[in-house]
Amino acid sequence: MVALVIAFRRILRELVSGIKTVLTLVLTLFLDLLFAAYNLLTPDRPAGRVVPQGHPGRCSCPALNALANHGVLPRDGKSIKFTEVTDAVCRVYNLSPTLSFLLGDFIAGSLVRNFRTDRLDLADIDVHNCIEHDASLTRVDHFHDPDQDKIAHEGIDGVLASGTGPGGNLTPPDIARLLGKRRVEAKTRNPKFSLALIHKLFGSANGTMLLTIFGGRVDDLRSFLGEERLPDGWESRIRHRMGMTAFEFNFKVFSVELSIKEEVDDSIARAGQERYLRAGEAESRKNA
Ligand SMILES: *[C@@H]1O[C@H](CO)[C@@H](O)[C@H](O)[C@H]1NC(C)=O
Repeated sequence: MVALVIAFRRILRELVSGIKTVLTLVLTLFLDLLFAAYNLLTPDRPAGRVVPQGHPGRCSCPALNALANHGVLPRDGKSIKFTEVTDAVCRVYNLSPTLSFLLGDFIAGSLVRNFRTDRLDLADIDVHNCIEHDASLTRVDHFHDPDQDKIAHEGIDGVLASGTGPGGNLTPPDIARLLGKRRVEAKTRNPKFSLALIHKLFGSANGTMLLTIFGGRVDDLRSFLGEERLPDGWESRIRHRMGMTAFEFNFKVFSVELSIKEEVDDSIARAGQERYLRAGEAESRKNA
């Protein structure tokens, strides 16, 4: 009987929380659509007028680290309210309030915390394969170094040298090419390599942020990725009045992800096979 009551309450809870999640999502996306329409109908803000005056702009995420380095988030990166995080990314990077909320709410959900009441240490997002994942453009894989707040300068230099746009700036095809190459390389070198579809999309999402917030400009990215600081007087390259909406963002993320050729030409699938072969040969030599 007691077991039945527990089971019943459990199912009820899941139902209610499921309905809540769906309703929140529908409402947020509806608002987001309104913002997207507003952006479409209004001219962008003039350059130099994106961030409200006085708000210039350490974990695996350069964007959150930079906010802490500049004191927009608490400098020690600890015990931060999720709502502080969403306010900060909204203000400094000019993401729409809806996209900022969806990102913050997603992090809270992934960490099984309450968006409204709980708090976050930046290092919490380094739980492997929760949000932090392999094949980063800015970190070595967790297998090679679990310390995911360490900046991978070599990889970053490679990224900054790969721009084919005007002035050597990064374009969407550059990001797709870099991500594909990095996935192959990571799978070849990391025997514990993993990358679920959701993490592939996070990866493209990170890359899309570089293209939108920073406009792919390598001069700005040198300081953002290399030192996790925003250049003096920097402001977001997103100039829409309502910020970058979830619609615009997701469209760009999918465009990048779906143009990664290594995902269809089998090079990721084949990467690592050589390592298995070598391991197999060593094994049979030992047995001979
Ligand atoms: C995207 O960011 C997450 C979290 O900071 C990081 O773990 C991941 O490796 C990044 N992905 C890419 C492709 O840079």
